[in-house]
Amino acid sequence: MSYRINSFEEYKSEYQKSIDDPAEFWAGIAENFLWQKKWDTTLEWEFETPKVEWFKGGKLNITENCLDRHLEKRGNKLALIWEPNDPKERFVRLTYRELHEEVCKYANVLKKHGAKKGDRIALYMPMIPDLAIAVMACARIGAVHTVVFAGFSASALADRINDCQCKMVLTADGLYRGTKEIPVKAVVNEALKECTSVETVIVSERTQWNVKMEEGRDFWLHQEVETVDKNCPAEPMDAEDMLFILYTSGSTGKPKGVVHTCGGYMVYAGYSFANVFQYDESDIYWCTADIGWITGHTYILYGPLLNGATTLMFEGVPTYPGPGRFWQVIDKHGVNQFYTAPTAIRALMACGEDHVLSYGLYSLKVLGSVGEPINQEAWEWYHIHVGKEKSPIVDTWWQTETGGIMISGLGGLSPMNPTHAGYPLPGIQPVLLDQEGKEITENGVEGYLAIKHPWPSILRTTYGDHERCKNTYFNTYKGYYFTGDGAKRDENGMYRIIGRVDDVINVSGHRFGTAEIENAINSLDEIVSESAVVGYPHDIKGQAIYAYVITNKPVETPDKIRAEIIEAVVGEIGKIAKPEKIQFVSGLPKTRSGKIMRRILRKIAEGDTSSLGDTSTLLDPDVVDEIKEGAL
Ligand code: WTA
Repeated sequence: MSYRINSFEEYKSEYQKSIDDPAEFWAGIAENFLWQKKWDTTLEWEFETPKVEWFKGGKLNITENCLDRHLEKRGNKLALIWEPNDPKERFVRLTYRELHEEVCKYANVLKKHGAKKGDRIALYMPMIPDLAIAVMACARIGAVHTVVFAGFSASALADRINDCQCKMVLTADGLYRGTKEIPVKAVVNEALKECTSVETVIVSERTQWNVKMEEGRDFWLHQEVETVDKNCPAEPMDAEDMLFILYTSGSTGKPKGVVHTCGGYMVYAGYSFANVFQYDESDIYWCTADIGWITGHTYILYGPLLNGATTLMFEGVPTYPGPGRFWQVIDKHGVNQFYTAPTAIRALMACGEDHVLSYGLYSLKVLGSVGEPINQEAWEWYHIHVGKEKSPIVDTWWQTETGGIMISGLGGLSPMNPTHAGYPLPGIQPVLLDQEGKEITENGVEGYLAIKHPWPSILRTTYGDHERCKNTYFNTYKGYYFTGDGAKRDENGMYRIIGRVDDVINVSGHRFGTAEIENAINSLDEIVSESAVVGYPHDIKGQAIYAYVITNKPVETPDKIRAEIIEAVVGEIGKIAKPEKIQFVSGLPKTRSGKIMRRILRKIAEGDTSSLGDTSTLLDPDVVDEIKEGAL
């Protein structure tokens, strides 16, 4: 691709161009893609409403860019390698030609069941090739995919389906993840009791379990594909038509549906992938995320396929059947770029070094990190034992809302500094703001991280509630997109992300809002009268969840009540949101206006009770001593 940057000097000049004239810069990048009709205006924007439109008037289909346009030159090149949970099972390889055909067939199945442009389709699936195919099939016909991580509960799935009124659900019989088995179809059946919008469910076979199929609603994919044509024209989409919705947690209320659109997302996904990972034509690239998260959307599927890359998709977990699994897969398939999360690295670090030292890992060229700040020890372990001190690490900072990587090194081109994400990608204009929302322009400072100019894959809205999008991201500091993160900028202008400054907890790279967990706990209203949840540092997960709970009767059987609270959270959200610690308290530290002082609760959860600050203004200062004494 001619947009690939090849030196740090070139990065600097491209960055300058992208700041001097963003519209012209991105128009130049967009020329590298296949448009059915060229756009009329490159960019229109204001951050007040907010309204951002890229490549308006342009027509395209992202799957033509991911698949069709590669057929001539790369038809027999591998598009997808699938590595199963169990290493003894055979892996699957699909060439661009094969993937194209599978996507077209699946797209025709969707059409056969009445799906059309603009319809929302929920995907609740294991990490199997059918998931990749299903995502592309939706995009092929212009249906809006909303992938829900298959670890969320039936209730969380139902909330998401209802919020965007999905017409279809794409799923599978069951799922293997490490030693766990999840009855995926049964979860869907449970969720659909609460969903009236869903007319059709398409089910892939993965585990061959006996599942309950509802006549007239549920269909087996392998039977349906037999009935359809293998050609499916790509639906022409406006650049600003919706491509997908992905739900993510914020500080308040229920998770919101972040909306990404076709044109801008495509351009940024393709551009950022090629440059951050410095992908070369014959490389094998592996991102270990799940497609249920934004990282899987942009950097397992769209980014690599837009560049004609070979992308590896892994069904399992880092520690199954043993801690050497990642390294075994890297050697087995000759992986060149490897992209994972700090929490995985820390979990593997805790298993010693033998598991990594027994693999050669000669193929590796670039290592990536994403999802949370990477601590120095994990960075060094990754660099020394995995990268053998020769592969650069790219610490990539970004968010569901940003669609693609925002601050990161570019392969081996950029200077590296452990725990620093580094410099912004071309087109990205980060700023640090002080309490009043004023830009701090010098280096060697800390502030709230915001972005002052739109880039092509910025979120366009939160589904069905534009006001919420405005309030969450554009109202805190007028004229800026506010990230919710705090950051430092060092003397060289490199950014170091500190973490969330709002009520979002990042557990193993998964985002949760304190409010959604509190709501789940408070739903046990026969036992619980109030709760407050905070994050605290955890060696492997980065952060873990600490819940303070006020019960409405004396706690006689604490373990039983804790188990009930955990069950409520697992039922409302999923196992990934399980509180690690639950402390029963008689009150919470509140201001006179009734606001919970989370700062104090966070300090106590961290085990740092020496500097709680002034507690005299609290409604009931004594409660702090009680909480301190009972801390877990
Ligand atoms: C955090 C994941 C430090 C950050 C792509 C952000 C990071 C949130 C990094 C978004 C990183 C992500 N260094 N922190 N390299 N990457 N984060 O939406 O707090 O699941 O706001 O997107 O993860 O999480 P999300």
